Parts: sequence; C-alpha cells; structure tokens
Amino acid sequence: MTDEAHDASGADSTGAETTAAEAGAAAEDSSTTGSVVRGERFRGGPARSFLSSLAADERIFAADLAVDRAHVVMLAEQGIVAEGVASEILTALAAVEAAGHDALPEGEDVHEAIESAVVDRVGPDGGRMHTARSRNDEVAACIRYRLREDLLAAAEASVGLRESLLSVAESHAETVMPGYTHLQPAQPTTVAHWALSYENAVARDTSRLLAAFARTNRSPLGAAAFAGTTFDVDRERTAALLGFDGVVRNAADAAAGRDFLVETVATLATQATTLSGLAADTLLFANRGLLTPADEYASTSSIMPQKVNPDTLELVRATAGDAVGGLTGLLTTLKGLPRAYNRDLQRATPHAWETVDAVTEATEVAAGAVATATWHEEALAAAAGEGFATATGVADLLAQAGVPFRHAHEAVAAAAADAEVALAEGDTDAAVAAVDAATESVVGEPATTRVDEATLRAALDPVESVASRDSAGGPAPSATAAEREAARAALVADRESIAACRQALAAAAETLDAEVSGYV
Ligand code: ARG
Repeated sequence: MTDEAHDASGADSTGAETTAAEAGAAAEDSSTTGSVVRGERFRGGPARSFLSSLAADERIFAADLAVDRAHVVMLAEQGIVAEGVASEILTALAAVEAAGHDALPEGEDVHEAIESAVVDRVGPDGGRMHTARSRNDEVAACIRYRLREDLLAAAEASVGLRESLLSVAESHAETVMPGYTHLQPAQPTTVAHWALSYENAVARDTSRLLAAFARTNRSPLGAAAFAGTTFDVDRERTAALLGFDGVVRNAADAAAGRDFLVETVATLATQATTLSGLAADTLLFANRGLLTPADEYASTSSIMPQKVNPDTLELVRATAGDAVGGLTGLLTTLKGLPRAYNRDLQRATPHAWETVDAVTEATEVAAGAVATATWHEEALAAAAGEGFATATGVADLLAQAGVPFRHAHEAVAAAAADAEVALAEGDTDAAVAAVDAATESVVGEPATTRVDEATLRAALDPVESVASRDSAGGPAPSATAAEREAARAALVADRESIAACRQALAAAAETLDAEVSGYV
C-alpha cells in the first residue's frame, strides 16, 4: 500500500476528470485512506476487506439513517449539540440518503461510512453526530429497526398461508380422505381436518413471530459501547422517535444481546419445519393421485417430455434445511461470547437476514401452492377406505356395546385381512360376515348380536366413520365447523395486530420526518 495509492484516491475524491480505470483503481486503493474511525493508524492491510460488513450492511442503510436522525434530534433537544450543527448534519444525511448506499465511501461498516460521508460534507462538526453513542448500540438499534419490518412481513406471509389452508378447509369440510400414520392407511379423515392441522400450527408461528416482534421492538440506543455515557441522553426520546416500544434497560444487555435474533430465527426454523411436513404431505398426495399441484407450481424435465414435477414443493421442503442451518450458525456464533461486544456479532446478523428471507418466500410459495392445488374427491374417497381404515370405528362400536376395548381390538384385528379384501371389492355383506366370525371366535358371540347391523355397516363406511368422529377437534364436518370459525377469528385478529404494528411504525416515521424537517 503506497502513498501514491493514497494520493490517487485523495485526488479522486475531488476529481471530475479521472478516467473510469483510474476511478476503479482508486476505489480499490481507498482501503488505504484514513477514515473517521480508524484515522491513519489502522488504515490499509490485508485484513481491511475481511473486517468490513459494508456490503452486507446495505440491508440496514435506511435503518442507520433513521437511527442517526433520531439520535441527532435528541442530541440537539438535550443541548448536547448546537441546533445549527444538528441542522447541518441532518441536511447532509438527506444528501447521503439521496446518493444511496452504493455511493458511500469505503468503510468498515455502514455506520462509519455514513459518518465519513457526513464529515465530508459538513466538515469536522459532522463528527458530532457520534457523540454519546458507539457503533455497538448503533448497530443493535439498526438491526432491531430493520428486523421489525422483516418480522411483520414474515408474520403476514404466515397469515397468508393460513388463509390458503383455511379456504381449503372451508371448501372441503365434507371431503373425506385417507389419514396416515407411519405412511400406512390409518383412519379416514377430511381434507378440512388435514388443512386445519397445519393452519393451527402456522397460527402458533404467527403468534411466535409477533412475540418476537414485541421483544425486538425495544431500543438499545443510549447504551453506547456497553457502559452508558456521561452525556445527558434521553433514551426514551430516541426510542419513541424510532417507533420502539421502550428501551432495553441494561446498557451491556442492549449492546451485546442478540437473543432477539435467536428467537426470530428459531421461530422461522419452527415454521419452516412445519412447512416441510406440509410439502411432504402434498408431494405424497400428488404421488398417490389424490391431488394435483397447479402448473405454475410445477416444473418439467429437461429430458423426459412427459414429466410434470412438483419441484416447487420440494424446494419448500428443503427450506427447513436453510433455516436450521441459519439457526445453527447463529447459535454457534453466539455461544460462549463474553460480554459485552465482540466482532463475532457482525457475522451473527446475516444468519437472520438469510433465514427470514428464505422462510418468508417459502411460506408465500406454499400458500400459493396450497390455494391452487386440485383435490381429486373421487380418488380421495376411494383411498379413504383403503387398508380397512374404518377398523378402529368398528372396534369402538363393539366397545360401546360392552365388549372390553382390548377384546374388541383383538376381534377386529382377526377380521382385518378378510374385511380389507371384502371392502376393496365393495362387498359390505362379506365384511360384516368377517367381523361377525372373528368376534364370535374372540368374544363368543357374533358382533351383530351386540350391535345393530345397520350401525355396523355405517361404521364400515368412510363417510359415516368420519361423521361419527365428532369429538372436539375431530374430523367430522360438525366438529371442524367450530374449528374453522375459531381459526377464521384468530386469523382476522392477527391481521389486525400486524396492521396495528405497521401503523405504529409508520406514525413514528412521520414524527421523525416532522422533527427533522424542523432543522433542515
Ligand atoms: N459492523 C459492526 C457489527 O455489525 C458494527 C459494530 C462495530 N463495533 C465495534 N466495536 N467494532 O457488529
């Protein structure tokens, strides 16, 4: 790193006449210039680009400008910087914003680069914007500020998926389908019950995301490096200007704490895991001819012309891998970090951005795939009775007629092979005979001496079998009606909560704009 390189980059900053090649070389060499934070001593060297988070910080460019503005307004209100200086800094910040992230000077991170850009415009007084703060509370504030938006987008995506699942439940309340355990036909259920099972799980994800939002939405500003400041800062004021719902009290916790990232990523990993199950089910149903994904959620083969592959759902299923990777990366980075600030924290943040982006997108895609898939009602009805799936209902019937459940289970198990064949042939008489014979051998009398034959026939029918399982939370259309209503009400309430959070953030942004315009 030569002095010539330094000079060249210095000239470049004034230079309209430099060629593109010179400008490129100078930009590369700008790692050798002193910066507002490093001065001359820590410039240059092979570790400079390794240290820098400037590229990744593009995500918090707007957040940093807001945090800077709120901080400067508070400093002026507290008499810590003169109003004229605040005005110059706020004017320069507007110019920095207009020029955009790509126009920032080199820097270790966006915080330093923005400050350098302000000092370039204002002169040494520009450096007063960093009074009574550190990049430690600053970056924590930026991450929280930006993540709030991402959490609300993720929550909205989860509500969108619930909407799709709920509309499937509403239009298929009576559609019977096979229910599987161990991937074997187990008991008939309804499409509504299946869809609600996922809707309920994703509803918990929405509420976890909103809880993560509430804990993220606290301001660390004013913590400074970790140990507070001698200046008479008003932490509540910067918190309010940024729409935070109060402050993170302990300054070291405020600067160092990243559990809000863990909570967010863990919630997203939980949701992605649920999504992977939803995708796996859908792929299985597609494979068994029970459902067809819409073409816009399918793909084809580059060699096999007849193929319509459900690739989209496979990618949704795979997203759980990204999310678990993100969570593992994040926790592993944080594990064992001493208080208060360590640069390791810089590498914790991208795990959160990557995970929230991946899971939000996968959730939106899953919502679309669920909403547009076609359920094949005849195939579903035929498959619902496969493998003598009504056997449990028959055993229940014998038990209700006074046979100890364990004997009833044994009798129906003995009838299973013959009953399965009879039912597959649509021969209910033979199925009844098989149950009668087996019950006689186990209990000493045929089933139909204890149970009304019409009731036994009904129990063997998948539609009747489902309708009879009307216990709370069961698949009977009469039982899912209440669940569908409850799910709809919770969904509406969650949409309102998200809208209220967004409104509060927008109102704070307006207040901040209004305060800033009093200076510029
Ligand atoms: N880019 C840094 C980060 O993401 C900002 C804080 C730097 N603080 C420091 N003490 N080096 O964590």
